[in-house]
Amino acid sequence: MLEDTSFAIHPGKKGTIESTNFIDIGNVTDVEKQKSRYLFTCTNGYVYLTFYRQDIVRITMHQKISQPFEKSRAVIVEQQEIDVTYEEKKEHIGLSTKQLKVGINKSPFRVSIFDENSTPLVTEESHGLGYFTNGEVICYKTTNQDDHFYGFGEKTGFLDKKGEKYEMWNSDVYAPHNPETDPLYESIPYFMTLRDGRAHGIFFDNTSRTTFDMKSAKDIYSIKAETGQLDYYVFAGPSPKDVLEQYTYLTGRMPIPPKWALGYHQSRYSYQSEHEVRELAANFIKKEIPVDVIYLDIHYMDGYRVFTFDNERFPNPQKLIADLKQQGIRVVPIVDPGVKKDPEYNIYQEGINQDHFCKYLEGNHYFGDVWPGTSTFPDFTDEKVRNWWGEKHSFYSDLGIEGIWNDMNEPAVFNETKTMDVQVMHKNDGKPDTHRALHNVYGLLMGEATYEGMKKQLNGKRPFLLTRAGYSGVQRYASVWTGDNRSFWEHLQMSLPMCMNLGLSGVAFTGPDVGGFAHDTNAELLTRWTQVGAFTPYFRNHSAIDTQYQEPWQFGEKYEEIMKKYIQLRYKWMPQLYSLFQSASTSGAPVMRPLLMEYPNDAKTYNLNDQFMIGDNVIVAPVMSPGITDRAVYLPSGDWVDYVSGEAYSGNKVHLIHAELDQLPIFIKQGSAIVQGNLVSSMEYKQTKITIHIYPSDKETQYTFTYYDDDGETFAYQNDQFIELGIEINCSEESIELDVINQKGSYQAPYSNLAIQIHGLNRQKVYLNDSLVKDVNNLYIEL
Ligand code: GLC
Repeated sequence: MLEDTSFAIHPGKKGTIESTNFIDIGNVTDVEKQKSRYLFTCTNGYVYLTFYRQDIVRITMHQKISQPFEKSRAVIVEQQEIDVTYEEKKEHIGLSTKQLKVGINKSPFRVSIFDENSTPLVTEESHGLGYFTNGEVICYKTTNQDDHFYGFGEKTGFLDKKGEKYEMWNSDVYAPHNPETDPLYESIPYFMTLRDGRAHGIFFDNTSRTTFDMKSAKDIYSIKAETGQLDYYVFAGPSPKDVLEQYTYLTGRMPIPPKWALGYHQSRYSYQSEHEVRELAANFIKKEIPVDVIYLDIHYMDGYRVFTFDNERFPNPQKLIADLKQQGIRVVPIVDPGVKKDPEYNIYQEGINQDHFCKYLEGNHYFGDVWPGTSTFPDFTDEKVRNWWGEKHSFYSDLGIEGIWNDMNEPAVFNETKTMDVQVMHKNDGKPDTHRALHNVYGLLMGEATYEGMKKQLNGKRPFLLTRAGYSGVQRYASVWTGDNRSFWEHLQMSLPMCMNLGLSGVAFTGPDVGGFAHDTNAELLTRWTQVGAFTPYFRNHSAIDTQYQEPWQFGEKYEEIMKKYIQLRYKWMPQLYSLFQSASTSGAPVMRPLLMEYPNDAKTYNLNDQFMIGDNVIVAPVMSPGITDRAVYLPSGDWVDYVSGEAYSGNKVHLIHAELDQLPIFIKQGSAIVQGNLVSSMEYKQTKITIHIYPSDKETQYTFTYYDDDGETFAYQNDQFIELGIEINCSEESIELDVINQKGSYQAPYSNLAIQIHGLNRQKVYLNDSLVKDVNNLYIEL
């Protein structure tokens, strides 16, 4: 029987299971309640079980009782004090809160978690917790054919991760991102299981190489880490949104980004001189294509030394940045972790003199090759180093820079292993450990250093940070782009499930390089990709050195017009997107989401890869193949309306939709609303007219949504300087009732009301806050 399970590929397997070096945790010999956690002493180790909240339980395994709890870099909250019911029988122990039941089998120790109705969530039968004599830790859980898996951060392949095996080990992968290419840059050891329409989640908090194996055995999946503690949390759900709320409660949420970061970004490796950057900006302005950010890739630096500018290429960065800002364009420079070994370079001198760089146990520095040649790497696991690095960013903020792009922070090193020697020792805030144990957290801690440093220096303005590498919790500091994709249609297709799974992993602010990074893009691909980009949370066109330039005008007027139209559309949708970003910052619900998130009972959505939702009522179904102008679109239950043509479509059905090159199919759910601005070509965010577009239904429907706005650039929203308007829409055959159900905040917006436009009104009467509306063409909510 064991041969049917992951034991079949047991790393220590030599013939029979009994002869391996796997050690099961064994039988329970004692149970002790310590404050609000339970300690199970077992034959071969110890297990702590802690209820973090009514709906979150944490399980840790310790080989020795003296092994302390490891400090988590991901979890930002302490456990709550909650009432737990304890029941002990001869062979079994039951623990329960209002939302979770935990059953413990004593011989051997097996822990199973159920919801309040005793529906199994995460259960163990033949196999449970254990470890190997080489230090690996593992847990096995039962699964069944009805399970669908999502999340796992940044992975290639399809949306549903059923039957897959994934590794977490932050890696710089320039080679094509194929379906089997794994791991990539980010490690988010978290996933969500959808079973019979109900969701639950697991976060396995370990920063060493970790493997999730849903492939090797039929009825069991396993999670294994190379070193460190076995430490995981189970989230009760029951909806996908609940699981995200629970996971992001633990690991934090995205702060509201500055509005400019939600605009269109233009990048290239590299725009190589001040002259080129000015010309680029002038082109955007002349062509009235809005752009909020221009990136400076590695060529801006003096010999790739971070915190420098090349004086010849960029003789006056301060003036360049100020002039561009005047035109509404921000400059975001790349900052990699590698610091050039150069005794005449101040950052290297300081880092060496103040002991900021990574070293071996014996005291010698670690050197690796990256862009500048031989380089050292700051030890971001040390608070002193994080503060130093953060302060160094005054170099950029003093020049007027408000955003930073962190790259190569896996950390990438040009060698066989692609990274730092795993034997390097990190200071780890007083608890030294090897790079092997801490590899996956390097990028997150660089992000923390950068974000917090910039925040201090920006005097109340919100910084923007883009990162390539990260770990669970990365959303607290940075937006994540999916690294070095290629200009292939397949990569456009793959970017959808990739970004949707990142969204389901707590990273709401994400997107791929639009147009594709490596390889040469072409007119049609770039045009279709720009349409998609207009609706992905992060919207940046970026391309590699020696590839075809891919600014929106590179392929002639016909294509430029279409791309301009979609970039402008992004700005029209900005109020809607901004409200969704704010909601992600408080609930963890992603802006761009798979349909299963809203329709978890609809099996047709479980592996729907080529459509996505923006919020809970908009479906985007792009064309992602060359020469194609018709595609199948699945619309789930409800009635839908084409955003452009106004044509109605019924749900629970697949429709064949026609979309010429200049068309992107977008559907709005009837009975709901979206909010749009009047801004399409300016780059400053002075929206002066906000319109709520209502798409009525003649059936009985109810919909509530929140409109949010604030100054878009400072933290004043934390002191009540925002507008939050809760609006309810009730539709029926006879009437459309609009009600403001709550209003919060005291921000004075540049507009004094929200216009309401009702699309496709039939004979229904319209009521606003219970009063019959006489002129539906002149309808406003006063603020
Ligand atoms: C890496 C990044 C890419 C960047 C390049 C040069 O490949 O992923 O975006 O342009 O380095 O800095």
